[in-house]
Amino acid sequence: MAGTYTAAADLNVSIAGIALKNPVIAASGTLGYGVEFEDVLSLERLGAFVTKGLSREPMAGNPPPRVFETAAGMLNAIGLQNIGAQAFVREKLPHLNRLKNVVVIANVFGSCREDYQETIRILNDSEGIAAYELNVSCPNTKRGGLVFATHPELLDEVTAAAKRVASASGRPLIVKLSPNVTDIAGMARVAENAGADAISLVNTFLAMAIDPETRKPRIANLTAGLSGPAIKPIAVRMVWEAARAVGVPVVGMGGIAGAEDAVEFMLAGASAVEVGTASFWDPRAAEHIVRDLERWCVQHRVARVSELTRGMAET
Ligand SMILES: Cc1cc2nc3c(=O)[nH]c(=O)nc-3n(C[C@H](O)[C@H](O)[C@H](O)COP(=O)(O)O)c2cc1C
Repeated sequence: MAGTYTAAADLNVSIAGIALKNPVIAASGTLGYGVEFEDVLSLERLGAFVTKGLSREPMAGNPPPRVFETAAGMLNAIGLQNIGAQAFVREKLPHLNRLKNVVVIANVFGSCREDYQETIRILNDSEGIAAYELNVSCPNTKRGGLVFATHPELLDEVTAAAKRVASASGRPLIVKLSPNVTDIAGMARVAENAGADAISLVNTFLAMAIDPETRKPRIANLTAGLSGPAIKPIAVRMVWEAARAVGVPVVGMGGIAGAEDAVEFMLAGASAVEVGTASFWDPRAAEHIVRDLERWCVQHRVARVSELTRGMAET
């Protein structure tokens, strides 16, 4: 009809040389290896999908209870349970590759530098992985259990080591920062200087809950990671601080549950966003956010979603 033309918004973004059809990425650990959710959501609709964290060897994870719902959030101490990089390559990746048009990002972790390198080496040999996301929120068992992400020299070391191996495949390295630090901008700079092609944040906040009746901790591991809407304003602040500190693209996450949350992270400086905990109450949350983000852009006359990045109006 004349006069009712409404252009669709351009949702394309690019992160460290990877073209994404939209900026909405499924976060690590919340949709398994993707294939398990095939009947529920269309991974093809998302900008990308990040696998559950992969290690050199399979890991059983922590004893239950491992999750607990809190006010507007959830605690988890899954303990990085996974089938291991080799089984992922053998059993899951071929299936993911058969789905057309899905950008797969492999999330990698380890307990020492060599673990990270070996895991990336295993994955390097396979087709169908667009990038690596390094989970550095893990203790370094060779350095007294210090968490890589909270010590600049360990972060520098693991990033540089991972980058050396990732470079052999030409795949970009996204370093996923922990929010459990006082100087997030400083840590973002360390990762960038050590070779990160992009930075993602935030991982979960170290937290705890106790049952007043039984006086027992709610989580067998005692401490756990807090995620979900409860952490969003802190995550937005950290993304803003990190994005101002580095030149590489930033992927923002932490409590995103709707399109406006995604817009908020982009205005703070994110080039793309990840959706995690929201998938627990709506497995199609990320897909819905893609749909609503396009509507939001059309309604707000935003021709290209990438215009939003660092588009905050400073008062
Ligand atoms: C159950 C669960 C498992 C997770 N597993 C991983 C993981 O294996 N690797 C990782 O880097 N982050 C993992 N995360 C962190 C999320 O990817 C994300 O950084 C965090 O939950 C914040 O985003 P959200 O509030 O949207 O969930 C996990 C989170 C949850 C809730």
